[in-house]
Amino acid sequence: MKIDSFFPDNVKAALKNDPPGEWMPALPKKCIRLSSGYPAPKLVPSGEIKAAAARLLDEEQDLPLHYLGTPRMEKLKQQIQNRLAERNIKVQEDELLITAGACQAIDLIARVLLDENVAVAVEAPTYMEALEIFRNYTNQIISIPIDDQGLRTNELAQVLAERKSAGLTLPRLLYTIPTFQNPTGTTLSGERRNHLLELAAEYDFLILEDDAYGELSFGESPTTLKTLDTVGRVLHVGSLSKVVAPGMRVGWIVGESEFITAFSWFKKDLDHPFAQATMAAYLEKVDLDERLTELKTVYRSKSERLAQYIKKYFPESVSWYVPQGGYFVWVKVPGVDTAEMLEKALAAGVSYVPGRFFFANQQEGIEYLRLSFSYESEERMEAGVQILGELIASYLKKTT
Ligand SMILES: Cc1ncc(COP(=O)(O)O)c(C=O)c1O
Repeated sequence: MKIDSFFPDNVKAALKNDPPGEWMPALPKKCIRLSSGYPAPKLVPSGEIKAAAARLLDEEQDLPLHYLGTPRMEKLKQQIQNRLAERNIKVQEDELLITAGACQAIDLIARVLLDENVAVAVEAPTYMEALEIFRNYTNQIISIPIDDQGLRTNELAQVLAERKSAGLTLPRLLYTIPTFQNPTGTTLSGERRNHLLELAAEYDFLILEDDAYGELSFGESPTTLKTLDTVGRVLHVGSLSKVVAPGMRVGWIVGESEFITAFSWFKKDLDHPFAQATMAAYLEKVDLDERLTELKTVYRSKSERLAQYIKKYFPESVSWYVPQGGYFVWVKVPGVDTAEMLEKALAAGVSYVPGRFFFANQQEGIEYLRLSFSYESEERMEAGVQILGELIASYLKKTT
């Protein structure tokens, strides 16, 4: 039996890409996980979630365990609508779809809007899992560089104009993480937010705004693209993974109702009623603003610590971006192939994500790495950065 003869052409094309999850190698036991974009274990509210699940089952018995779930899922929608309203995103019920995390949201958007004839524009670098999702649907990925003000919209304008005059495919979708970006931690400036929306109107594309870290600001959160969008070009994706718990798989899409209908067509019941109902029960009892204040204080302090350790232990040639929110610090290590160095780092008990995984053209990321300050304790972070500093120094000594 020739197994691949059963795969349609689009699946065959997708399977030619690098396998998903290559950026997450098996980690040795007790490894210091500077690679993991997970919440700090102490900040995951397992006790409250346990109480919420117990209360849910006491009050509703078997109902949350059926296919259709419970009225509490409608309540979750309302709770999310209320949070969005606080960020100045006003949403009608038919403009919001709850998903199994932001990843399902990105996948649904890609599934509905992309195929091999459609191009998607992404930031370079960008969230590696989104790249993997887009590659499942199209090979036409257009990378636009970012700097410390986020996506370089002038560069985008130039690429669009050049492609138009050369008769090349124009992107129908642009994926951006405008606030506390993964992996760089950068935030798109207000001026560029407006410019991006103008370009979307001029060249008729949609914007997928991934706001996974939008509420994790060390100061004020900037105005979202969705708030600035007056015509419905922005599909806004959010998640409770980074502020509550990723294993609950609760995310959402905000968009024009016709888009939402199309996404729900394909989502069917592939999400999780029990997790959603439990999340609703949890949110009924928690003061999320208070919780966010605590998260921001902890992550701000951890990000400052990580920057101090980098300064203390990494060679002087290394540079990094100081984020104003989110989970990550993006580091440039001139002269080091960070993918090559990873094996030694893992053997020494520390993980990070090599920069190449965040670029459609992997060569661009060779000298970068992403460190996460969210997951590990300050003591372990310091130990990990010290080990990495020594590895970088010895790598540089060998190659010079
Ligand atoms: C930018 C970005 N978007 C989406 C996600 C995934 O979120 P979720 O757990 O809600 O699928 C992540 C998680 O790391 C992320 O960094």
